[in-house]
Amino acid sequence: MGTPHSFMTLLSFFVTALLFLLCAPSANGAITNTTVDDTDPSFQFDGAWTSVSASNPCGGCSSKPDPTQTFGETWHDGNYRTGASETTGGSFTFTGSAVYIFGIDQAQSQPDIAFTLGNTQSVHHYTGTEQFAYHALFFSATGLDADQTYTVNWNFNIDPTTGVGVQAALFDYAIVTSGTDDVAPIPNVVSSSTHTPTVPSSTQAPQSQTPQTSPSNPISSSKPASTSSAGNPSSS
Ligand SMILES: *[C@@H]1O[C@H](CO)[C@@H](O)[C@H](O)[C@H]1NC(C)=O
Repeated sequence: MGTPHSFMTLLSFFVTALLFLLCAPSANGAITNTTVDDTDPSFQFDGAWTSVSASNPCGGCSSKPDPTQTFGETWHDGNYRTGASETTGGSFTFTGSAVYIFGIDQAQSQPDIAFTLGNTQSVHHYTGTEQFAYHALFFSATGLDADQTYTVNWNFNIDPTTGVGVQAALFDYAIVTSGTDDVAPIPNVVSSSTHTPTVPSSTQAPQSQTPQTSPSNPISSSKPASTSSAGNPSSS
């Protein structure tokens, strides 16, 4: 009668080893935040942008924030003119469970910035009065699949309430959260093939089935969703 039992033991061993090899880098990874500066190639800027730094100051830019209050003393200054045919926008590509995009808010002449991640849209609309508000959260998304690569796109829309025809927004850096909680130790996962695991209501079990295109992630922004430029984040 020993055969089924030892077979299961052997099978469990190989499944454990396989799962460990497949999942070790992420499933065992602690949750960490990584800051990505605007000069990193994972940022892409389309349209009228200037990459501003100490070695490349932008004399012609109307926005002159204090460099020492920015991350890495660099930022991207993008502008958009009312009625311009070329859009101003960009994208940020990352792999992780959460993303936070930061810029420098400006009370005057800042456009509405429409962000898109998957099926989720949100518009950043500054309502404060600071000339420059540093480390301003433009966009965030959490609860994503830590192993999946995502792209956030954004596009400027004229904010008519500023009364200014040429509008500019300053992008500074992003924070990406990687790794997952160590909620499901590997042995528990293997035992789930013979009986139900004791893991609570976790969604972290590393099953190889991830057809999740639209994570229900809370998006933080000061305005809900815009509708107009919905289906088509044309990255020209
Ligand atoms: C990562 O950064 C975000 C945004 O600043 C913060 O809300 C979150 O608590 C941080 N997470 C960790 C694990 O440090």
